[in-house]
Amino acid sequence: MKVDVLLGLQWGDEGKGKIVDVLTPKYDVIARFQGGPNAGHSLEFNEIKHVLHTIPSGIFHPDKKNVIGNGVVIDPVIFKKEVEEVTKLGVDLTKNLLISKKAHLILPSHRALDAASEAAKGNSKIGSTLKGIGPTYMDKTGRNGLRVGDTLSPNFMEKYKQLKEKHNSLLGMYDFKPEISDYEKQWFEGVEFLKSFTIIDSEYAINNYLAEGKAVLAEGAQGTLLDIDFGSYPFVTSSNTICAGACTGLGVAPNRIGEVFGIFKAYCTRVGSGPFPTELSDDTGAKLQKCGHEFGATTGRPRRCGWLDMVALKYSVMINGVTSLIMTKADVLDTFDTIKVCVAYNQDGKMTELFPFDTEAKFDPVYLEFDGWNIDTTKLRHQNEFPEELNAYINFIEEELGIPVQYVSVGPDREQIIELGEE
Ligand code: GDP
Ligand code: IMO
Ligand code: MG
Repeated sequence: MKVDVLLGLQWGDEGKGKIVDVLTPKYDVIARFQGGPNAGHSLEFNEIKHVLHTIPSGIFHPDKKNVIGNGVVIDPVIFKKEVEEVTKLGVDLTKNLLISKKAHLILPSHRALDAASEAAKGNSKIGSTLKGIGPTYMDKTGRNGLRVGDTLSPNFMEKYKQLKEKHNSLLGMYDFKPEISDYEKQWFEGVEFLKSFTIIDSEYAINNYLAEGKAVLAEGAQGTLLDIDFGSYPFVTSSNTICAGACTGLGVAPNRIGEVFGIFKAYCTRVGSGPFPTELSDDTGAKLQKCGHEFGATTGRPRRCGWLDMVALKYSVMINGVTSLIMTKADVLDTFDTIKVCVAYNQDGKMTELFPFDTEAKFDPVYLEFDGWNIDTTKLRHQNEFPEELNAYINFIEEELGIPVQYVSVGPDREQIIELGEE
């Protein structure tokens, strides 16, 4: 068996949580491979709306295993709260949630360092979610980090104190003295709580599942344009959000990757700072934000909105080897008379279809215009009910990217999904 991967092709919040939940019945195991509580993955079913941060989005299906892989970073305080919320909804996580020994821990002082670093950047701040993600991955690559498996060691307290000391001296350089003792108390409670879960060598577990013929879906967090290598650096997150991240974040070989589901919104959003070529600062942008309820699931910040960007999408498809596309939030465009799609960038009269290196570069998007469909799509459940304008929009995207759109999502609920090409 192979591992299928589902990941975001834009700047995150493409609807990964919803789609993983929709696809989970086809799989035995759902595994998160990177990111941490900077992610907010929303699911809706039976009038319940739920946001997950660290726990994989297959958790609401009994008898499916959910693995938090080695590439993920975990804040025990947030993890505990998250588990308690899910447990309230009647889900038994003790059986179905497995955590990698090699996943790194976000310390209270990592959160403080994130805040200090952002404050020091002033106007050029990244717009981090302030969950301590950057400093935790820095300690991972700097070979200083603490891992979930370390909590089981008798030296854990000593290791914690050493790392905290290091962080305190860094915070001193920033002249930043945050009060973290309350959070630290909750953190140690969270660590004890975390230890009550099944902590595993997840690379062996995943490869054993594959050997047993079990179907595994890897769930990405953030999106390709926030990738540490290929996103609009430095306005990115600190992990590899791309398909290759599923190999390093789970311990699966590249030749074990099967389908790559690339998910994108029918338009674009971005939360936090950084370039966004098709951003609309006008009434149209405000309408997209209103119709799409575009507020961050983790921070509540308003998301910046703009038209679909094919230059960026083509780049993302290339980097990830996407085999199947999923378009979400098509319904958000239901009331637009004209829908625009960016097909190139114009930089001082020079056209390019390449995703730029320079985040300072100024260029104007070149748009194609499409007729809107002006009908309510939220109740559609079959492609043969689609208005011809929506089909034209989808056909254009498929032709430009050279891969099929397999699913279209027309609302936040689990039921609001259409598989294309179904009889
Ligand atoms: P994720 O981070 O990729 O899982 O996405 P988020 O959960 O952060 O943001 C997606 C938002 O859009 C959530 O509020 C979802 O409930 C909602 N959503 C997902 N798919 C659709 C859709 O097809 N239409 C509409 N209107 N909302 C959707
Ligand atoms: P999901 O998984 C959207 C953004 C932040 C910031 C940048 C760096 O829900 O799609 P970080 O806290 O990672 O250091 O922030 O990345 N960001 C996200 N934007 N969706 C996310 O996750 C994000 N996770 C981080 O806003 O610009
Ligand atoms: Mg999100």
